[in-house]
Amino acid sequence: MSIRIAPSILSADFARLGEEVRAIDAAGADYIHIDVMDGHFVPNLTIGPAVVKALRPHSSKIFDVHLMISPVDPFIKDFADAGADIITVHPEAGAHVHRTLQTIKALGKKAGVSLNPSTPLSAISHVMDLVDLVLIMTVNPGFGGQSFIPLLDKISEARKMIAATGRAIDLEVDGGITVQTAPQAIAAGADVLVAGTAVFKQGPDHYASSIKALRGD
Ligand code: DX5
Ligand code: ZN
Repeated sequence: MSIRIAPSILSADFARLGEEVRAIDAAGADYIHIDVMDGHFVPNLTIGPAVVKALRPHSSKIFDVHLMISPVDPFIKDFADAGADIITVHPEAGAHVHRTLQTIKALGKKAGVSLNPSTPLSAISHVMDLVDLVLIMTVNPGFGGQSFIPLLDKISEARKMIAATGRAIDLEVDGGITVQTAPQAIAAGADVLVAGTAVFKQGPDHYASSIKALRGD
């Protein structure tokens, strides 16, 4: 299974975001992970659709947009129009996650669903047919730089649920990914790793080597 790395621009220099996206693209990022927070669903405020739209010309890589906003439904089309390729939502962000996923698919985008550390996998067992990506949070969402919660059994269970569908569904892990924790997540079945701090903390000269190290090359 090929491992893909999704640097989270939450840890980038927000004053130079376009340049940062070009730099991680050139450094070998597979997805560009964009963390959208509303100060309500999570205790932080970040990026809206206008910023996603402004970044779109800076990379042709997959824009992996992680929506931590509630209600989420009124904003799905805005992020689709802004250039998101994958739109990931939390089941708690609206009353009807099945409908939300249908909305994403109807807009021609890939649909992801994200589970907080305390949210059981059973929350998505009846929507797997609509899902292109399962995101297992290994921190409580809201901030970069937190410690990895070792939910390795949950990742393994998610891998089994995906295998049972017979479809190609990404299994992404987000939060506290480092060169120490990446191999654990991969061994448990993850194939896409989100990394903010671990990619950006050493500065642009190290983006390529950091991405390579996380991939385990
Ligand atoms: C947390 C975000 C993550 C975060 C990861 O709410 O969803 O994507 O940026 O940051 P690190 O890799 O620093 O834990
Ligand atoms: Zn994220």
